[in-house]
Amino acid sequence: MQDIIISHNLEADLTKAVGRIAPDRLFVLADETTAVFCWPVIRDFEALRNAHLITIGATDEAKTLDTLATVWQQLGEGGATRHSALINLGGGMVTDLGGFAASTFKRGMAFINIPTTLLAMVDASVGGKTGINFRGLKNEIGVFSDADTVILSTPFLRTLDSHNILSGYAEMLKHGLISTAEHWKKLLTFDICGILPQIGTVGGPDCDDKQPDRSERYAALASLVEESVGVKEHIVSEDPHEQGIRKALNLGHTIGHAFESLALLKGRPVLHGYAVAWGLVCELYLSTKLTGFPRERFYATIQFIKENYGTMALDCREYDRLYDLMTHDKKNVAGRMNFTLLGDIGDIRINQQVSKDDIFEALDYYREN
Ligand code: GLY
Repeated sequence: MQDIIISHNLEADLTKAVGRIAPDRLFVLADETTAVFCWPVIRDFEALRNAHLITIGATDEAKTLDTLATVWQQLGEGGATRHSALINLGGGMVTDLGGFAASTFKRGMAFINIPTTLLAMVDASVGGKTGINFRGLKNEIGVFSDADTVILSTPFLRTLDSHNILSGYAEMLKHGLISTAEHWKKLLTFDICGILPQIGTVGGPDCDDKQPDRSERYAALASLVEESVGVKEHIVSEDPHEQGIRKALNLGHTIGHAFESLALLKGRPVLHGYAVAWGLVCELYLSTKLTGFPRERFYATIQFIKENYGTMALDCREYDRLYDLMTHDKKNVAGRMNFTLLGDIGDIRINQQVSKDDIFEALDYYREN
């Protein structure tokens, strides 16, 4: 089981995490962005004195077998052994690919995740899912393998633009929906606009950036992040390999992944969390219709999503294509789609079968509201 640390002293916590492994050689994996903005934050730590930096491309397009091979090669050339360690410094792409590279190099070396995006802090870096995209399919190849330690240092959130904050926040919203009404309510009433660093972003809210100091809001966000990670940590500890309750984390993702893939196929990629937010609208609609999710909670949630995430343009002639994408979802069992729906906040109903007509009705609702 991985150790998850909400860090208030990154140097002390990282030094301790490295010391626990006592590696013979230490490597750091960053992408082209985190190598510039985040690596300088830790580069001079004494514990990283002889660390060897490996840099890869920064977008999901770099999450490939070729990139993985480059990382293996650089580990080999740098003299890595099974007793070495890799620190993954970046968003979900880096923690997923780096975790997979470390877990497979010489049959596995230890790794530490330092997620630098909100999405990676609350989701990707926690729970042991590692992997790469393959033949156009997201996360098609990979293994479950826990990081030795995950260190969450919320000051990295200040390096993010508004799209990336909102993208991570969608997964937090999902955690609210699958946990308690109290946590869900806090997320809906948090002044997310107050910390977004850009004005009038595409598909995002029309926020006033001329706020005084946003420190207090960042502190409030950090506390929500801590709660959110706790929700994920609890679920993953109950079911690390997704045989049952971990499927709760798939809420919003069956239709959300189809939105994400369709956007990619149309050459207009969207951030994962935006697709999840739109998927939540559809899957909460289905929950309201099929499993009794309360209407007022449905309206409150979709209102928040509409205001902050906008809507992806969708034509009803694309429904079949979306449906086809859903039938290829990795989460399907024996060709059957498995939805996770809700009876209420925290009342999780996994393995729900939903008819094509109901899915299309949910898409109609999404398009028309
Ligand atoms: N991202 C969902 C999970 O970790 O299971």
